[in-house]
Order: sequence, then structure tokens, then C-alpha cells
Amino acid sequence: MRLMKLFSLFGKVALVTGGSRGIGFSTAKVFSENGAHVVITSKDSSRLQNSASKLSNTIGIAADIKNENDVKRVIEQTVEKFGKIDILVNNAGIFPKIKKLHEIDESEWQEVLDVNLTGQFRFTKAAIPYLKKSSGSIINISSDAGLKAYEGFNADAYSASKAALIILTKCWALEYAKDKIRVNCICPGVVDTDMTKPFLKTSKDREFMNSEHPIGRIGQPEEVAKAILYFASDDSAWTTGAVLTVDGGESIK
Ligand SMILES: NC(=O)c1ccc[n+]([C@@H]2O[C@H](COP(=O)([O-])OP(=O)(O)OC[C@H]3O[C@@H](n4cnc5c(N)ncnc54)[C@H](OP(=O)(O)O)[C@@H]3O)[C@@H](O)[C@H]2O)c1
Repeated sequence: MRLMKLFSLFGKVALVTGGSRGIGFSTAKVFSENGAHVVITSKDSSRLQNSASKLSNTIGIAADIKNENDVKRVIEQTVEKFGKIDILVNNAGIFPKIKKLHEIDESEWQEVLDVNLTGQFRFTKAAIPYLKKSSGSIINISSDAGLKAYEGFNADAYSASKAALIILTKCWALEYAKDKIRVNCICPGVVDTDMTKPFLKTSKDREFMNSEHPIGRIGQPEEVAKAILYFASDDSAWTTGAVLTVDGGESIK
């Protein structure tokens, strides 16, 4: 029996923002294991280079997503090194301290939007000329927090940034369909990464978070990475503007 190989990225060049750890790192790993050349980018250079060294066909280029010149440099160096960009994963993100809206300083609000929303705009804008040439694929990492409100989850700037990414996915998908660029979005539930560590300090915390997901547990970063792989590969060639929840059923409650 001949088995069909799905989701190959052989010959593709992928750029993953926030690739030093968590969902971004798992995505880079899954991509490289499926044949892609991968560039990971994030702010902390030593963590980034350490992560890149663990993966085959992967390099790290450090950059602050809040700095437009840094972002342009990542795009230029990626093309210098590999000649093109086929896949952009807009994954870098931060999570603010839980506070009610009236307790947030404007600077805290701006910081979250600068990284989680304007950062994705910066990378996408700089990559578009190359994605046009390659008929590329963009995958935006949003969140269930962009889909619905949760009791006691007071992270309004985060929710706003993630909801904005959902509509931008649809806007960009429509704008660039004629250029054969596809744009899709993933909304994870709670995933076991550094970002969620503060909510998973005790076994009671973990039990609670597990119970919030109808499947009975929180997710692992590679479970999100496999969904990203689908959107990155040519096997999803007829899918654009889609929003996929990968969340153990959390958002259906
Ligand atoms: N974990 C979850 O439960 C969950 C759920 C839904 C959605 N998400 C989304 O999934 C994405 C990845 O989350 P994660 O849990 O994997 O997060 P994480 O483990 O905290 O990793 C965040 C990544 O973003 C990078 N980053 C943060 N600020 C940056 C900046 N100013 N410039 C460049 N890079 C920056 C970090 O780089 P450094 O290493 O240099 O700091 C790191 O690589 C985020 O967009 C998050 O909102 C996560």
C-alpha cells in the first residue's frame, strides 16, 4: 500500500514570529520536520539562537516586533538567505496583567496593541511583496479571547488585539486573493506555554483550566502547530479567510 504524504512543506521558506518558544517554536519544529527552511524571529537574541540550534534547517534573526526597521531587516535577511518567503506565521504575542478596564494605564493598553496587532501589520506589510511572488500563505494566531468574553478574564487589550486579527484575516484574504495569497487564522484555547504559566501555578489551577475545556484538558503547543501546518501547506490551497478554533471545545460553551 502506498501512503499519501500530506502537508509537505518541501522547498518552502517559512518565517515564524515569536519562534523562540511556545507555539512558535513548536510550529518551527513541525515545519522543519515537514521539509521547510525556517526563519524564527523574536526579541531575546540568546533564547532565539538557542532555540534555532535545536532545529534542522532553521535560523534565528532577532528583532523587536515593535520596531519597523527591525521587521524590515528580518524580511530582507530572510530573502537574502533563502531567496523567497512562502509562509508567514504571525504568532508573536504578549499577555498583560489581569486588570479591569478602569485600572489599565494607557501605556499598558498601547504596549499590548503594539506587539499583538501593529506588530502583525508590520510583518505582513513588509512580507506582502515577497508573498505575492510566491503565492504565499499567511497564518494569523488569534485566540478564543478574540471570539468571546470570559467571566473574570480581564485582559481587554489582549481580547481587542485578538478580535482585530480575526477581522484582518478576512480583510487581507479578500484584498490579496487576486494575488494568490491565502490568509487564515487560528484561535487556540489555553495552551501549556510560558504565557499561561501564571494561570497554571498549582494543581488546582491546572484542574480548573482543564475543566474549562470540554475535551477535559488544556492544549499542547504542537497540537496548535499541526493546525498551522495545514494552513501553511498547499493541501489547504482552496481555503482562505478561515478562522479555525483549536481549543478542546472551549469556545463552544
Ligand atoms: N498559550 C496560550 O494559551 C495561547 C492561547 C491563545 C492564543 N495564544 C497566542 O499564541 C501566540 C504564541 O503564544 P505562546 O503561548 O507561545 O507565547 P510565549 O510562549 O509567551 O511566546 C511568545 C513569543 O512572542 C515573542 N515576543 C513577545 N514580544 C515580542 C517583541 N516585542 N518582539 C518580538 N517578539 C516578541 C517572544 O519572544 P521572546 O522569547 O524574545 O520574549 C516569544 O517568542 C501569541 O500570539 C498568543 O497570544 C496563546
